[in-house]
Amino acid sequence: MNILDIIAKKRDKKVLSKEEIDFFIKEYTNGIVTDYQAAALVMAIFINGMNNEEITDLTLAMAHSGDVLDLSKFGENVVDKHSTGGVGDKVTLIITPIIASLGIPVAKMSGRGLGFTGGTVDKLESIPGYNTGISIDEFIKNVEEIGISVMGQTLNLAPADKKLYALRDTISAVESIPLIASSIMSKKIAAGANKIVLDVTCGKGAFMKTKEDAILLSKTMSAIGKLAKKETVCVITNMDEPLGYAVGNSLEMIEAIECLQNKMEPDVKEVILEIGAYIIKLADKGNNLEQNKKMILENIENGKAYSKFIQLIERQGGDIEYVKDLDKFEKAEYILPVISEKDGYIKSLNAERVGRISGELGAGRIRKEDKIDMAVGIVLKKKTGDYAKQGDILAYIHANNKNLGNEKVKDLLSVYEIVYEKVEKPNHIIGII
Ligand code: URA
Repeated sequence: MNILDIIAKKRDKKVLSKEEIDFFIKEYTNGIVTDYQAAALVMAIFINGMNNEEITDLTLAMAHSGDVLDLSKFGENVVDKHSTGGVGDKVTLIITPIIASLGIPVAKMSGRGLGFTGGTVDKLESIPGYNTGISIDEFIKNVEEIGISVMGQTLNLAPADKKLYALRDTISAVESIPLIASSIMSKKIAAGANKIVLDVTCGKGAFMKTKEDAILLSKTMSAIGKLAKKETVCVITNMDEPLGYAVGNSLEMIEAIECLQNKMEPDVKEVILEIGAYIIKLADKGNNLEQNKKMILENIENGKAYSKFIQLIERQGGDIEYVKDLDKFEKAEYILPVISEKDGYIKSLNAERVGRISGELGAGRIRKEDKIDMAVGIVLKKKTGDYAKQGDILAYIHANNKNLGNEKVKDLLSVYEIVYEKVEKPNHIIGII
């Protein structure tokens, strides 16, 4: 078999066989197929798509490109959670300690930033010392001993996805249903949980811009879940504007910690409660979603979720003084206000553009090997439906370069669409599949 023939076949809109997909994944994982050949094939898949059989074959090949974890010692109902990506999406940071504090084991493997969206692993690394690169044995031991572990994707779990994920980020080949579905489901299959809750984001700051595409992605992933005998629920959430108020690595970590200290903004709360309620349901710890939401709120109010977070950070080598004293997080040198030039209601705040501005400040990567700046980003003060008067502060840009910061102030101001007529606050839960 020859990689050039496989690239040409997909370039010419033909259907790839299981053998061809297995060959590509195997040879890319072991370095025989080069990054530029993989880039060509990935772009052909991006442009010409794949049918359901090809997507399933791709997912299974990626899932079995490395080890597949066995979490059966934690019982039948280990639940995993994953997001298709968003701007300001700090749900994993908040939900995992909540769930663990309810006695449900959490073994979570997370990713880095992709495209204009952030990644949990990058955000966790804003706490000095936190080790996202622990071994699989440590990962399992942490779940056994403290009920939770959150790590990055190790070399051994779905390594093909790890390589493809980083590659796609640098060749503008992210927003594709076959590539996203196979990326997420391969990781979930390799990570060993038998129940999966997926946060499928939808809107301007998501990879799926329309409800129809979000439903299609959800159905694709649920079908793969069914085939792999993993009960899968997709919660479609609104990502037209960023979730919460902070965008950027340490800024989002600070907001997540504040949420665990019971200072949670309504949009974040709506999403946390819905996703959390389904995780509890799938874990067989409560069939009544409303009751499950009450359990979540209780463990935020009584501090158990926050204590679990501290335990997690400490266990994985992070400096817990940062969690206890948020002023310790390194601040950007310039904190520049974005000031409203008129009176009116915020009609929209395009999350993709906000994510890109944050990336351009240094919070994201352009090339695979780029280092990110933990301190920079954006803190919003006004969001959709809020009223602003001329002279009010709409947001702050956190920059480590003054000229760049001033440029991004102008860019962010132009993202705020302000109108005279009253605008309602949006709903954040769009549907369940
Ligand atoms: N999250 C993933 O893990 N993979 C994608 O392709 C997109 C979001």
